[in-house]
Amino acid sequence: MQQTPHERRQIEALLDFYSASGVDCFLGEQPVDWFDLTNEHAAQRLQNRTPAAPSQHTGLAETAPAANPRHPAGAAPQPAPATMPMPSAIPAPPTGQGGAMGQPAVLPDREIIAAARDLAASAATLEDLRRCLEAFDGCNLKLTAKKLVFADGDPQARLMFVGEAPGRDEDLQGKPFVGRSGQLLDRMLAAIGIERTAVYIANVVPWRPPGNRTPTPQETEICKPFIKRQIELVNPDVLVFLGAASAKTLLGAQDGIRKMRGRWMSYPGNGREISAIATYHPAYLLRSPLEKRLSWRDFVSIKEALLANQER
Ligand code: URA
Repeated sequence: MQQTPHERRQIEALLDFYSASGVDCFLGEQPVDWFDLTNEHAAQRLQNRTPAAPSQHTGLAETAPAANPRHPAGAAPQPAPATMPMPSAIPAPPTGQGGAMGQPAVLPDREIIAAARDLAASAATLEDLRRCLEAFDGCNLKLTAKKLVFADGDPQARLMFVGEAPGRDEDLQGKPFVGRSGQLLDRMLAAIGIERTAVYIANVVPWRPPGNRTPTPQETEICKPFIKRQIELVNPDVLVFLGAASAKTLLGAQDGIRKMRGRWMSYPGNGREISAIATYHPAYLLRSPLEKRLSWRDFVSIKEALLANQER
């Protein structure tokens, strides 16, 4: 069908809007409400135990890896490594707790979180942990992300940074903090005489939330065991939380970043307390450059803590 230039521009604008909102694949002409169990398609999928869409609540690929566009319906799902308890292998809840037709419609978050905890604890090395995350289908963010953003830098580093979640550039490259915020972080590190390659950088959530939205509390809880294990395995001397979100998740801190930043705290590591500090997220500094003077103080304090630790 021939479109007028105006129609074409309208279609392009709509596609741009979808793309900016995180929609990056086409599934069908008509929207299907997968939670409407009177809906013929949804009911049939449940009956066949091959749900075609992630649940809206947790987005979990509950009974079938086919819910994952990486394993399109009909394609043979890739078997998970035998040692990894995948959420799809979690037994259905006792009868009575399931959804329509006796099938569990949504796996409770706590089961996914427990599976994430077991899986993370089973990782003996950082490479193990990366493989666990690659095999883990319990977080809906994996469905829309292009790549797992595991970490960057030196696994033996004494200084570790933890951000919130990857953005677009990180998702494309599969590395944390490589976009504009990452470049600012590199410059801040250089200002205290530290190269990016000498530190270890990771995020609480290792998959990009669509459209760069904030990860939901469920997504954060599901990913938390993995970042906790990652910190244990790196075992840094100094831990820096970039922004309030990572400090709140990992320290249970309640204060806002303005109150929390620049204060030394203690993070319970593997058998020892790790010196931890929160500072402004570089993305915030890009929007509020005047706050860089406070970040500068934090970075000087970080450098001093590293030196003091070295002398011990
Ligand atoms: N913001 C984050 O919190 N993490 C990244 O990796 C990039 C931007």
